[in-house]
Amino acid sequence: MSVSLPKDLRDSMRQALRRRELKSARRRLTVLSESSVDFSSNDFLSLSTSPAFRTRFLAHLQQAPAFYPFASGGSRLLDGNSTYAEDLEKFIADFHRAPNGLLFNSGFDANVGILSCVPQPGDVIVHDELIHASAREGMRLSRAGKRVKFAHSSPESLEEVLKSQIKADPLIANGTRNVFIVVESVYSMDGDIAPLREFLQVVDTLLPQGNGYFIVDEAHATGAFGPRGAGVVQELGVEDRIFIRVHTFGKALASHGAIVLCCSDTRDYLINYARSLIYTTALGFPFLACIRTAYELLSEGETKPLQRKLQQLIMYLRTRLGDLGSWDPSVFEVDHFPGSPIFSLRSPLPRQLAATCQKQGFIVRAIMAPTVPSGKERVRVCLHAGNTMEQIDGLVDTVQQWLNQATEKRVARL
Ligand SMILES: Cc1ncc(COP(=O)(O)O)c(C=O)c1O
Repeated sequence: MSVSLPKDLRDSMRQALRRRELKSARRRLTVLSESSVDFSSNDFLSLSTSPAFRTRFLAHLQQAPAFYPFASGGSRLLDGNSTYAEDLEKFIADFHRAPNGLLFNSGFDANVGILSCVPQPGDVIVHDELIHASAREGMRLSRAGKRVKFAHSSPESLEEVLKSQIKADPLIANGTRNVFIVVESVYSMDGDIAPLREFLQVVDTLLPQGNGYFIVDEAHATGAFGPRGAGVVQELGVEDRIFIRVHTFGKALASHGAIVLCCSDTRDYLINYARSLIYTTALGFPFLACIRTAYELLSEGETKPLQRKLQQLIMYLRTRLGDLGSWDPSVFEVDHFPGSPIFSLRSPLPRQLAATCQKQGFIVRAIMAPTVPSGKERVRVCLHAGNTMEQIDGLVDTVQQWLNQATEKRVARL
């Protein structure tokens, strides 16, 4: 048997990759040196290298009764369920002040599962234009009548879109047809926080029958934002107003998987209809123990000092980047939402800037279109509780040197 491709298929794959190459959009797997300083990963609290996390996690594994299988052995609906998984769901739901929780193997699976099955035929999904690819995938599979986007984090745009949907369909106005509003609480690329209160107000005013349902993805907020890292929804105290919250464990929680927080009817419905839950092997015990470890640390307040440290570093980097002075925005611009660990260093040459930082031992990534809109390419810098002020100084000095050199080259070309 041959694993080589038939010529036609190989040629068309190679052409597609070449097209990406020409647009500087070809993706590659990279492994950066372990001794480099992490200014890139989503390990916001640095829990993945925390000795406290490791010790507690290993204790959970060691204390497990001998009859605990390490692998789940099947789908949650067959042999993959356990008392441990159900207890963990209750523990996490209580922490988030939610009625129920349902674990998924990833945030991707959770978003695909929810959006592909919860909106019913004829319902409308209204989503932020920058919503994550996993939500887009769920919407692609959805039976909803319409998917309409609104301008990023704009309550005015949400209002306009809702008004036009209401005008077009009297069943929305009389409450017969549902509208699902899909947003993230913190966005991965710009690090900005969604104006959830303003969104709620728009929906309360325009859909007084109560047929507007919020689905909020808290992937980037989990662990890093809100009381004990419980997220933005809890920070605002609006958990009773949100139909579904998704918290993922692969970022600040140093784990893997996600939980969908919802009412018991929705949980039941997902168990019956979410194909990304039904047709996959459930998380095994070591993964569940890892998630439990993270939530124990959150609920016991152990991660609060890390959240505080992260905020101090955010203030420090913000100030230091301010020292770089103001540049012509066509050359360099810093975008930062106050309080967010994610910074954007916008430049027309993000790959060069990222490469210079990487050479100095700082892991940062150039983010190119189509991941961000064309013209908004940037170097994404992400802070972690484990970073130090010296590391930040080193990064900012490197950026400063690169800017000086880039400017000298520009002047020399004139
Ligand atoms: C906003 C958002 N939602 C969902 C996901 C997917 O989560 P996971 O990595 O657990 O699949 C991500 C991760 O990239 C994300 O950024």
